[in-house]
Amino acid sequence: MDIQATSGQNILPNQWDAELYDNKHSFVSQLATDLVELLAPKNGEFILDFGCGTGYLTHNIAISGAEVVGIDNAPTMIEQARKNYPNLKFEVTDGTNLHFIEQFDAIFSNAVLHWIKEPEKVIANIWRALKPGGRFVAEFGGKGNVKVITTAIYNAMKFAGYSVDLNPWYFPSISEYSSLLEQQGLQLVFASLVERPTPLDDGQGMHNWLKMFGNSFLAAVPVDEQTKILADIENQLRPKLYRNGTWFADYRRIRVMAIK
Ligand code: BEZ
Repeated sequence: MDIQATSGQNILPNQWDAELYDNKHSFVSQLATDLVELLAPKNGEFILDFGCGTGYLTHNIAISGAEVVGIDNAPTMIEQARKNYPNLKFEVTDGTNLHFIEQFDAIFSNAVLHWIKEPEKVIANIWRALKPGGRFVAEFGGKGNVKVITTAIYNAMKFAGYSVDLNPWYFPSISEYSSLLEQQGLQLVFASLVERPTPLDDGQGMHNWLKMFGNSFLAAVPVDEQTKILADIENQLRPKLYRNGTWFADYRRIRVMAIK
């Protein structure tokens, strides 16, 4: 089954619960501290954190002495980021419509580009926002990411009689994404794709993950039926992704670095 993004006419945007994110999914940012090392921010640089969520990595970058702006298109996340880090700059901004021109020494992005199905627009915006010589460092879901989870969602939705044309995610191959970067005039330094089975928070980890990140699918289902569908998904996944009391997400991360 092709679980890549389809035409997506009816896809609802994910609803972002900043509290659930900070309480149960902070691993998304914590696992990416080595991405900040790859970025190697320096004192005095201007850096954009593209899709900053609740600001954890923006703060990590700012510790270097760089001046950082965090952007996210979810007002709930930006509100929480401002509460978490009142001394940093955050803006609600759509990543396909950036207003920055040749302003940044570097643009950083963790776990967000797979939410935007218009990669050409994003890359064009990133290119425009970078100074000549500026670097783009990003990690997000690559080809095959959460394939086991998505297949179970599709099965459960189909079985309950709902459309599966609701996939909100973009998971490209390395070659596809590298070509897009190069077509825009960014010079690829490297690209990698790695399996990263990721432990979820607790015995409720898969349920919470599905509520947090899968709500584009669930939004199509009346609330009283959601519990049944969630249970069906968990039952399909338990033999594959539940080990010794811990749920795992079958993440596959693409990592890229490119220079303008
Ligand atoms: C990810 O980080 O790979 C991811 C998160 C939510 C939904 C899909 C993928």
